[in-house]
Amino acid sequence: MYTGNLVRLRALEELDLDSILRFYNTLELRKFLGPSIARSKRYMEQWLQEASTRNPWRDGHLVMAVAEKETNDFLGIARLKDIILPHNRAEVGISIHDPEKRGKGYGTDAMLVLLGVGFNILGLHSIYLDTMEDNEWAIHVFEKIGFKHVGILRETELLMENERAS
Ligand SMILES: CC(C)(COP(=O)(O)OP(=O)(O)OC[C@H]1O[C@@H](n2cnc3c(N)ncnc32)[C@H](O)[C@@H]1OP(=O)(O)O)[C@@H](O)C(=O)NCCC(=O)NCCS
Repeated sequence: MYTGNLVRLRALEELDLDSILRFYNTLELRKFLGPSIARSKRYMEQWLQEASTRNPWRDGHLVMAVAEKETNDFLGIARLKDIILPHNRAEVGISIHDPEKRGKGYGTDAMLVLLGVGFNILGLHSIYLDTMEDNEWAIHVFEKIGFKHVGILRETELLMENERAS
């Protein structure tokens, strides 16, 4: 529905379930999305049903599929969450699931489109995100887009550190 140079952001559909399950239970993807708990197909079906029917004005949450612009193939998830309309602010999150599809410009393009949805459709004034401090790839992409580093939250992802040590 919302297009960039390489991607479109569109509604999540039940048909996306298999694509989501393909990489969702890989630590390589989930270590930066936390918590890295293996999710069953049943769990993801319920998540998809809930996520795909969220209304940003009612629920403060908008979850969309990132799809390849030409083929409409599922690439990942783009979301605006904790949308607080009296303050016109929200948090963004983005993920490109297939490691083979990363580094091709999709994540940057998807984030630019997502920011356009947030600022121009939802009328937000402030959009922020957090990421793990060792997620250098994501930090590079977000800083390139224009996000400013405002601080470090300490000891907020203890589970993730344990996982990496194991
Ligand atoms: C972070 C993520 C969304 C970026 O999307 P992407 O499609 O892979 O990134 P792009 O192709 O748009 O951008 C690639 C840029 O990252 C740079 N890059 C690639 N690997 C890198 C690395 N290991 N460290 C730092 N920069 C790196 C490339 O050089 C390129 O920079 P340039 O545009 O200045 O030339 C994607 O990699 C992803 O989904 N990662 C796993 C989930 C995740 O971490 N999500 C963010 C959670 S907050």
